[in-house]
Formats: sequence, structure tokens, C-alpha cells
Amino acid sequence: MATAKEYGLGEFTFPRGWFMIGESAKISDKPQGVKFFGQELALYRGKQSGKVILLDAYCPHMGTHLARNSTSYVAQDGSVEGDSIRCPYHAWRFGPDGRCNHIPYSTGPIPPAAKVRAWKVEEHMGAVFVWHDPEGGEPDYAVPVIAEMSDPSWVPIAFDDLGIVNCHTQEIVDNITDVAHFGPVHGSITKYFENEFKGHVATQRMGGGHRTLTTADGPMLETEAVYTGPSILITKMTGTHDSYIFIAHTPVEDGSAYVWHGLMVKSPTGQAKYNEQDVEIARQYQSMALAAFAQDFEVWKHKKPCFKGLFVQGDGPFIKQRAWYRQFYNPRSQRDEILKSVDGIHLARGFEGKPAQAA
Ligand code: FES
Ligand SMILES: [Fe+2]
Repeated sequence: MATAKEYGLGEFTFPRGWFMIGESAKISDKPQGVKFFGQELALYRGKQSGKVILLDAYCPHMGTHLARNSTSYVAQDGSVEGDSIRCPYHAWRFGPDGRCNHIPYSTGPIPPAAKVRAWKVEEHMGAVFVWHDPEGGEPDYAVPVIAEMSDPSWVPIAFDDLGIVNCHTQEIVDNITDVAHFGPVHGSITKYFENEFKGHVATQRMGGGHRTLTTADGPMLETEAVYTGPSILITKMTGTHDSYIFIAHTPVEDGSAYVWHGLMVKSPTGQAKYNEQDVEIARQYQSMALAAFAQDFEVWKHKKPCFKGLFVQGDGPFIKQRAWYRQFYNPRSQRDEILKSVDGIHLARGFEGKPAQAA
């Protein structure tokens, strides 16, 4: 697997930021073992608070995985008690703060080292997000949320779970600057294209036709794709339907990522409150958007790593974008220095920027 080090990304192996780790509907009081950032983790929903809890997986007693067990009687009887979880091996119980709060067979004191790391998680839009920070700091931006999420005329988001792709996240993020792939991969005619980098946000504005997402005589497809942080991409799309594409990718190992895709569509029938017919049209549109995304996905799945591209005139601003991405792989203290030559609007030579009248 190609590593962050080989891409020259910086000091950290995994970036700082908010990352999706699952769909709300799939997380219950039955703990799941998950792997992100090269670490085994235990994920469950507390019975008492209903909150999602994410803990480091390995019990400090003797190293047992807290969630990957189905045969121990602790697991069979349900290892989650209130918001705590019991280890399947000797039934030590850990609270949502990661501290051991009960050892059933021991009358002595609970040692202070009897704890696991508890991760900061938040739930938004039917998904669960974790804050990952190699410096151990507090979040420096909020999880991006689609504003129309609570608008009754929009069909709620549904997720496609795409599983693991064995390519480095840098290759996925490259897509935000890749103007030259739109024609060959998606069959689209790019009329305008630009990137803007501003702090932790990277934006792509694009207008043109799209063979998969609109028809030849259909409306012009205009998209504004925004990375808020290194991993959550929300694309506002106007065309056949007003919609948002949500794509989240989260590092699993150094060189692989878990990917989700989702779509939110404004009531296609134009109702103030979406109806069954709207849902059906929205899901059809989602499968078309997914087909377009699958075109990118197939390339990532089989390509070899691009540590240093052979870029030519007409390529998008890859160098700037890769510099932008490096801010998440280095301490905050270096951010301003990294972004100095990156912030601003960048065009690919030969392409116009977004016309002012279309703004
Ligand atoms: S290994 Fe977890 S309680 Fe013993
Ligand atoms: Fe693409």
C-alpha cells in the first residue's frame, strides 16, 4: 500500500479532521468492531443516552477485543449496560469515557490505568462522525451539514456503503482538481472550471454537460463541490434536479479508505412536502449519481499510486491542491505557512473560471 510518507504529506500518518465512520441506522447496542486510522475500535450505541460511543478496542486487562466476540456469555447476554460495555473475556466494564467502572470478581481498587481511549463522535444527517487529531486537540471546524436536511420538500439522504478501496486518500482528494478527467471518464463537456482554497475548505466550481447525469438536450449541469476538511465532500448540483451529493472517505489503513456516497434531492414533483413518488425519482437519480461516482471509483481501485504526476498545461491545479491537503498531515502551527501560496482561486490553463453572471 502506498503510504502518506511516500506521498510526502507530512509528519502524521493520518490526517486531522472529522471523518464519517458509519450510518446511524446501522449502529445499535450490539457492539461492532471497526477499523479506522490503522486502529481497532469498538462502536456501539449507549442504551441509556442513545448516544454513539467509540472506544479503542483492546481491553487493558489482557488485550481482548471489546467488540469482536459473539460466543462469550457476556456477548450473548448483551455486553452493553447503560452506556458502558463489558469485555467478553473477564467482564470488566468500561464507561463511555473509556474508564473501567466495574470489575465483577475483584474487591480491590480499580487501577487508574484500567481505561481505553474514548473518541469524540457526533451524529449528523443520519451518519456518525469522529474527530481524529494526531495532536489530541479539539475540533477546529464543525461537521459540514446540508442546510436543507430538515426541509420537508427535500427527500432525505440515503447512503450507499461502498466499502474499502485500496488506494491512498490523496488519490481520492485529487479528484477535486481534476478538470481533465471529466470528458474521458464522465463524458461531460466542461464549459467552466475553477478551484478555490480557503483555509480548511477546498471548492470546485464546474459547469457543462454530463453524459451520465443529464441528457444532451437537458439543462446544463452546474456543480459546486466543497471539501470541508480532508474527507467530507458535499456537492451542490443543479441540473435535472436540484440535489446534493455527499461523499465521505475515511482512512482504514495508511493506503486504503472506506467510502460512502449519498444523495439528497429536492422534491422532483415540486411538492412542499416530499411524497412516495419523489422518493422513487430521488433514488433513481441517486443510482445515476452513483454510476457516475463508480466511474471514478473503478480508476482508483486499479491505478498505481501517483506520488508525483507528469502534469501538463491544461491539467487542474494539482500541486496547489496537494499542498492544501498537507495542512491536515502536519501540526496546526505549520498551517499558515503551508497555506500561504495555496489560498485563492486557481484555474486550469485553457479553461474559463465560473462566469460572474452564473454566480
Ligand atoms: S481481557 Fe478484558 S476483562 Fe480480561
Ligand atoms: Fe469524477
